[in-house]
Amino acid sequence: MIERLHSVQLLHGYLPRQELQQLAISMARPLSEVMGVASFYHLFRLDPPPPHRCVVCRGTACFVRGAERLEAALRQRGVAFETTSCMGACGQAPVLVVDGALAMGQPEALPWA
Ligand code: FES
Repeated sequence: MIERLHSVQLLHGYLPRQELQQLAISMARPLSEVMGVASFYHLFRLDPPPPHRCVVCRGTACFVRGAERLEAALRQRGVAFETTSCMGACGQAPVLVVDGALAMGQPEALPWA
């Protein structure tokens, strides 16, 4: 089941409910079982991904240099983001990664500001 969920997510970027229903039917399993597996693992998305993937570092250096201010600016702009621990770029703290590229971490320098 997990491999099939991976295939669906690779195709759509997330797991649309209709696809999960089809998967349950094709595997002769209850939808609740498919949903249970899909929701158990963090790597599966049940909602469409945001247009940009933003990751804010919450490591010590980034915290000291304003990661919270950066998170507040993202929230204020309605930008969805994830957090992580040190990304190994402490010299550029606070660190923000947008779509896999290191962005300047000061709120006023956000790419969509
Ligand atoms: S603490 Fe953020 S990159 Fe190291």
